[in-house]
Amino acid sequence: MSFDRRQFLIAAGSVAAAPALLSCSRSGEPRPPGVPLSAFGSDSTAEAVTAGLDLAGRTILVTGATSGLGLETMRVLALRGAHVIGTGRTLEKAKEACASVGGRTTPVALELERFDTIVTATDLVRTLGMPLDGVICNAGIMALPKLEQVYGLEKHFVVNHLGHFILVNRLLPQIQAAQQGRVVVVSSLGYQWAPEAGIEFDNLDGRRGYEPNRMYGQSKLANALFSLELARRWRAEGSAATANSLHPGIINTNLGRHFAEWKHVATKLIGWTFMKSIPEGAATSCYLATAPALARSSGHYFENCNPVIPKAGKHMEDLAMAAALWQKSTELTSRYLA
Ligand SMILES: NC(=O)c1ccc[n+]([C@@H]2O[C@H](COP(=O)([O-])OP(=O)(O)OC[C@H]3O[C@@H](n4cnc5c(N)ncnc54)[C@H](OP(=O)(O)O)[C@@H]3O)[C@@H](O)[C@H]2O)c1
Repeated sequence: MSFDRRQFLIAAGSVAAAPALLSCSRSGEPRPPGVPLSAFGSDSTAEAVTAGLDLAGRTILVTGATSGLGLETMRVLALRGAHVIGTGRTLEKAKEACASVGGRTTPVALELERFDTIVTATDLVRTLGMPLDGVICNAGIMALPKLEQVYGLEKHFVVNHLGHFILVNRLLPQIQAAQQGRVVVVSSLGYQWAPEAGIEFDNLDGRRGYEPNRMYGQSKLANALFSLELARRWRAEGSAATANSLHPGIINTNLGRHFAEWKHVATKLIGWTFMKSIPEGAATSCYLATAPALARSSGHYFENCNPVIPKAGKHMEDLAMAAALWQKSTELTSRYLA
């Protein structure tokens, strides 16, 4: 493998940019008023943030439970006594992941780019007949090198956002049947890479100016806007259910499978200076899904187990855009929502 001078300079540039990205998640960042702060931080693990909790009797669904952060999230929630429904792209993968962790788990097949499998999966979850205390929308893809489309739409948007939009909407009765159901959407600091205008409603097929990080950023902005609008709707209905989004940190997982080789080299060389471990990366998801202190907190964005006001001008708190995204997503998926 060759690693030329230009690539070295790009890698060095990434290192230089890392502290700037990370500074967004340091304490001292603006906090939304009224949302409880925790004593946890960037080095807290999923086990640490759930220590002492007894989740027996609760059922939590985790998407993408076969790898990386989702697998660790499932492991720790099951360790604390929750019944975890762990989804994988095939039943075999889901079974293997569930078998690799202790506790009570149920494997379910869910391929987010095939909407019929979401219908099948949610029908199955309904037949289990229990309320859902949590749905963690964790599965995701990043940085597809070339434009790929599903249903004529750009694939990051479909897998990361639309698939979860269908999933959660189909499970709303189960979530609302729980004493205090929670939807946790794994977004990313990559929201900052989204197009200047936010969601490009006139370019959802991704044909205009395809750029991998830009489209990943758009899908992660969509994740946060989805939870914002869901929270608004539940608040208006007087529901006890909550929805929040989060950035888990920067963690070396299979998410980088499409990265150029030099990025993997750079990660090995300098990743330790700014990256989290997988147990640390799963902490904020587990915290949002279980922390008793957050029972009434909804519509917020979290980093390092604490609420953060996202960067201004990046549409993360744009209520009008969130409502428009909900409307558009409903139009695009209506035949799968009923
Ligand atoms: N790692 C980071 O630094 C980082 C930073 C910010 C945000 N995030 C977010 O964290 C979440 C988890 O990512 P990770 O780092 O744990 O990555 P990962 O190890 O690649 O895990 C992603 C999971 O999503 C599943 N998945 C991918 N495409 C899918 C599809 N079409 N349908 C259903 N499931 C699918 C994967 O299954 P297969 O393995 O079978 O494909 C895998 O289980 C993602 O939403 C990501 O955007 C991660």
